Amino acid sequence: MLRLEAEWLSTDRMHPIDVRSGMNLQWSEDLAVGHPDIDRQHQELFKRFEQFLSACSARDSDQQLHQLFDFLSEYVVVHFDTEQRLMENHDYSGMDEHLRQHEEFSQQLHALREELNRAGATVEILMRTNKALLYWLTSHIRQTDTKLAQFLREP
Ligand SMILES: [Fe+2]
Repeated sequence: MLRLEAEWLSTDRMHPIDVRSGMNLQWSEDLAVGHPDIDRQHQELFKRFEQFLSACSARDSDQQLHQLFDFLSEYVVVHFDTEQRLMENHDYSGMDEHLRQHEEFSQQLHALREELNRAGATVEILMRTNKALLYWLTSHIRQTDTKLAQFLREP
């Protein structure tokens, strides 16, 4: 992540941005949490983020960032709702903490979007968005969602 940040920092927004060198954002089996609905939605998020980074390398990052946020604002509602329903239906004991993380991420996205609308796609917003998503993909999915999936698989 540090290398990625350094690349973003050194990038002038007037120039094409290549943020992917050294990054592997492809979905892989080790990220599967083992629940088909959750995994399908997670894969969609990875795909979308990867497309966003590719597009930023080639085209206008302002437009790309707005499109990414359009996608994310709908995506988090649907995806978090899927997970919440599963937790409720299975009386999951870790639900409060899990939902707290969802809420925190939603608020973070909301704040970033407001900042994007206010200031446009600055390098700082690109970096913060990138960091938030990377954290989400690697930390929340790997730990919190995996715990939920393990619970759902229990007899
Ligand atoms: Fe989750």
